[in-house]
Amino acid sequence: MQKHVFFLIIVFISLSNLTSDFFGATVDVSRDSPALALSYQRLSRPQFRQGKKLIHLLKIKAGEKVLDIGCGSGELTAYTAQFVKPKGWVLGIDPSPYRIDLANQKKDKNLSFRIGGSDDLSSLPSNFYDVVYLNYVFHWILDKKRALEEIFRILKPGGRLGLCTGDKEQHSKNFKILSESIQAVLGPTASKDLVVPYHISKEELQSLVIKSGFIIDSLMVEEKTNYVKSPKEVIEFLEASDFGNFLAGITEEKRQRILSLFKQKLSETMTSQGIPMKYRTLILIGHKPKTVVSKAFLKIDLKS
Ligand SMILES: C[S@@+](CC[C@H](N)C(=O)[O-])C[C@H]1O[C@@H](n2cnc3c(N)ncnc32)[C@H](O)[C@@H]1O
Repeated sequence: MQKHVFFLIIVFISLSNLTSDFFGATVDVSRDSPALALSYQRLSRPQFRQGKKLIHLLKIKAGEKVLDIGCGSGELTAYTAQFVKPKGWVLGIDPSPYRIDLANQKKDKNLSFRIGGSDDLSSLPSNFYDVVYLNYVFHWILDKKRALEEIFRILKPGGRLGLCTGDKEQHSKNFKILSESIQAVLGPTASKDLVVPYHISKEELQSLVIKSGFIIDSLMVEEKTNYVKSPKEVIEFLEASDFGNFLAGITEEKRQRILSLFKQKLSETMTSQGIPMKYRTLILIGHKPKTVVSKAFLKIDLKS
């Protein structure tokens, strides 16, 4: 009995360090702000570079209709538009109105933007797009299965899917010290997943994409190191790329304690090039088969 009471006290103490929101690690785009959107635009050169690679792997051609889901401030969307000219076009959607405001400053007749996310693709037509891609967005999507099923629906038969997403396996020093800083303040039960709660592994991604009906053409893991000038800039980037969700849902006092520890540990990793930020990305290229066998038919066939 005494053991049970002791256990309950420990659980209570651990839980009281987290608000219910943080404990559920809910990502909420309404935490974004105009300042965070601008800051992401300024600091996201590495994501843009990786995105350019994705676009080249997708071999986007003149005349194609392309959808960029989670386009942010639209840098990559605008880059993609040059390949579809003169008759094709690219549509960028993002749930953050602040990022769409910035994107709309890019003017091109082959380019348009609107507010929207992976949860509300129902207004988009079926069997329509040649290419759908998501650059550093998939790890922010909770219902990945639904998103992939909807992308499958809106792609033409033979249409291509491109994904760049954070790998659940991040063997980097910066992730480790961030987890250590969080655990030092919130307790040892606080998980590293609280930073990017919906990260996915290579195996999970592979299985999910195949189950959604796609054929995978390539799936690579790439580890890159970017150098950042100061601990302050590392935090600015995390806040901007997480559209306000970085360490959201905890008290300001705890947040400041985590940040101060994190900054201190980050500055110890400073090199002559800057602070190394290692990040592992999964890069997937797939396509919707030209002939789609309906799921209902497959079930009947399997039974017989
Ligand atoms: C790290 S940024 C990537 C932006 C851009 N794709 C790039 O390459 O720089 C993540 C973006 O995903 C958007 N986002 C978050 N949840 C989303 C969802 N469920 N569907 C679509 N976009 C989402 C955010 O608003 C943010 O702009």
